[in-house]
Amino acid sequence: MSETISVVERPERDEAQPRLRTRFTEALGIEHPVVQGGMMWVGRAELAAAVSEAGGLGIITALTQPTPADLVKEIERARTMTDKPIGVNLTILPSISPPPYDEYRRAIVDAGVTIVETAGSSPEPHMEMFRDAGVRVIHKCTSVRHALKAQSVGVTAVSIDGFECAGHPGEDDVPGLVLIPAAADALEIPFIASGGFADGRGLAAALALGADGVNMGSRFMCTVESPIAQSVKERIVAASELDTNLIFRSLRNTARVAKNSVSDEVVQILAAGGRFPDVQPLVAGARGRKVFEDGDVEAGIWTVGQVQGIIRDIPTAGEVVRRTVAQAHDVLTRRLAQFA
Ligand SMILES: Cc1cc2nc3c(=O)[nH]c(=O)nc-3n(C[C@H](O)[C@H](O)[C@H](O)COP(=O)(O)O)c2cc1C
Repeated sequence: MSETISVVERPERDEAQPRLRTRFTEALGIEHPVVQGGMMWVGRAELAAAVSEAGGLGIITALTQPTPADLVKEIERARTMTDKPIGVNLTILPSISPPPYDEYRRAIVDAGVTIVETAGSSPEPHMEMFRDAGVRVIHKCTSVRHALKAQSVGVTAVSIDGFECAGHPGEDDVPGLVLIPAAADALEIPFIASGGFADGRGLAAALALGADGVNMGSRFMCTVESPIAQSVKERIVAASELDTNLIFRSLRNTARVAKNSVSDEVVQILAAGGRFPDVQPLVAGARGRKVFEDGDVEAGIWTVGQVQGIIRDIPTAGEVVRRTVAQAHDVLTRRLAQFA
């Protein structure tokens, strides 16, 4: 895949900042192959705008906004902070009382958003409306077969989440080191690697494995503009790669979350044969939201990935974009050059 990546030594805008042009940056019209994936309660205007302003792709999470009208206001707020492209994540997961997905989709289109990240289920039902409105879709999934399906229904790019990832890794348990080259062999459209990326070493590795960029969640969650309590960010910095739990395995709806007393208890109850109603009070979304708002990391279930083991500071989101690209450039042109 090396022919699809070009290292640009002399960028037009900032002489000091190297750029890595890939099929993904070209297809999406962005400067750097670095995406901030949709994150419930985290993907708000300040964070998304900061990532986009730095030349990556910031993504506002649709369902974090209580209504489609609030989503439109959030998009407009982000536009006051940057005039670069901002995406919106639309996650469709099984739910007892589903949100009005069609109305959120309509709001995204009416607000003039041009890039959408779909996740959770097939993008097929949305493609006609998005295509008619000129919206480019990045579909996030966790298997090569779902990536191929997304390609067949006309998405612009795929974001493929390895087993390391925060949130829902699926049930196949294939880590990025295998999933990324497997996807590279199978896909024709551009794709980005997701799950376990936090720096330029990861970006360089993703490019080496055949991806056209990276998607990062946990790394951007632990930045200045991320709208969560400082104590949660500090917990991420202090935590190691061992400090996550996989909950809901027996329900075939696996989620990777922070290891704490609540997720430990959920794992124990389900391992002992418990069912969803037995853990429902523990996993209530309202408790997880409280973690982010009040900063009590033991108050409920909250999402983070194994990559926290290599997250050691709380920089601005723009700094994350810039140094990820600069470090990847350095790895590609210096460290790896010695083996060429
Ligand atoms: C706090 C948090 C909330 C998330 N919420 C969502 C979500 O609502 N929809 C979604 O598609 N992905 C969600 N994700 C997954 C991220 O978009 C991304 O795929 C994942 O974090 C990549 O793994 P990493 O954390 O190792 O970078 C979430 C991740 C985090 C950390």
